[in-house]
Amino acid sequence: MTRQLSFLKAVVHLLALLPAGWLMWQGWLLYDYQDHEMSANPIKYIHHFTGDWAVRFILVGLAITPLRKMNGWNKLIKFRRMIGLYGFFYVVLHLSNFIVLDYYFDWMTILKEIIKRPAISFGMVAACLLLLLAITSTKGWIRRLGKKWLILHQAVYLIALLAVTHNMMMVKADLSEPMIHALILAGLLGYRIYDKVRLGRKSYA
Ligand code: HEM
Repeated sequence: MTRQLSFLKAVVHLLALLPAGWLMWQGWLLYDYQDHEMSANPIKYIHHFTGDWAVRFILVGLAITPLRKMNGWNKLIKFRRMIGLYGFFYVVLHLSNFIVLDYYFDWMTILKEIIKRPAISFGMVAACLLLLLAITSTKGWIRRLGKKWLILHQAVYLIALLAVTHNMMMVKADLSEPMIHALILAGLLGYRIYDKVRLGRKSYA
């Protein structure tokens, strides 16, 4: 790895961790009875914050291939795995908030919520698929799975669709942000369909 790439990777790590750091800082302010941004319902706030960042990272991960193709920024591919894993990281925080702070490890109620509420079921399927992609994102798994790896990792489109649908269904009042997420996703998927039709490609790596 060149020095420049290592430096850029360090910058991306730092930027990707900023939201988590900010959330921890706000959590500390709340714990310490100081002024904070976590609203009157911190659990809801954490749901929104981590959920929104998870969607953003998933969408940024999906944007890498079109950006690379359109502008010839081939080095971007070196950041795709990292961005995807940060999406997973924010999903883990989101799910942990649900399990630990929202439901205090009440597994029966958690299970009922996942089964009873389609929006939560969508989120759960997306989270499980993301876990699978995160596990198989290593060089060892890429080598072991060969062509199957490409097929498996196409699941990222389904994950993005489920995540944005979950986002739409969970927001009660202002739909503007999930609408923006949905439009970005439509653009990214539209570009891929256009490119595939244009080039008649079989797989899209
Ligand atoms: C890829 C997986 C997931 C993504 C990207 C995601 C993203 C989001 C987003 C963006 C929101 C709306 C935030 C807002 O109102 O601005 C949200 C809300 C929510 N999500 Fe998820 N989510 C995922 C998985 C899950 C899972 C697995 C669960 C629980 C099992 C869950 C539980 C919730 C709950 C309870 C809310 C509503 C919070 C509230 O309004 O009080 N999510 N999620």
